[in-house]
Amino acid sequence: MSWVPVDGYTFIDLGCGKGRMLLMAAELGFRNIVGVEFSPHLARIARNNLASMGVDAGVVTGDAAEFAFPDDPMIVFMYNPFGALVMGKVMAKLAVHQHPVFVVYVNPKHESTFPASFIRIARFQDWAVWRKDAIAP
Ligand SMILES: C[S@@+](CC[C@H](N)C(=O)[O-])C[C@H]1O[C@@H](n2cnc3c(N)ncnc32)[C@H](O)[C@@H]1O
Repeated sequence: MSWVPVDGYTFIDLGCGKGRMLLMAAELGFRNIVGVEFSPHLARIARNNLASMGVDAGVVTGDAAEFAFPDDPMIVFMYNPFGALVMGKVMAKLAVHQHPVFVVYVNPKHESTFPASFIRIARFQDWAVWRKDAIAP
């Protein structure tokens, strides 16, 4: 993912499933990695997968719309995990995040919910990347 920064950024997978992208994030060099997963069953599998690979990452069981984002610059990854309603809530929260945010969205069906502060910086066949700058204090 050469078009997003790694150093100093927290990687978050909203709808992390069994933790596939969390493992990849560790390989890419992210040091702070968090998954959010609605299904307790999948969240448990993700924790087991991370532990078996020796990857230090947190998995939060819950709804991404209710997730309290860390006070960090972030890469937010989403593999088309939810519909427009949840996406709208998530993006509204990210729009007021104080730090820079990059959104990597695979199969971006609900990009119309993205606030104008998110600028698309790359588009590929079935995924794209958006960036929002820090908000001045
Ligand atoms: C297509 S899978 C992607 C899994 C993983 N990110 C990957 O790339 O392999 C989408 C996941 O989002 C989860 N999900 C759906 N709605 C959610 C919500 N509101 N909050 C958190 N996770 C959700 C589903 O349970 C599912 O595991």
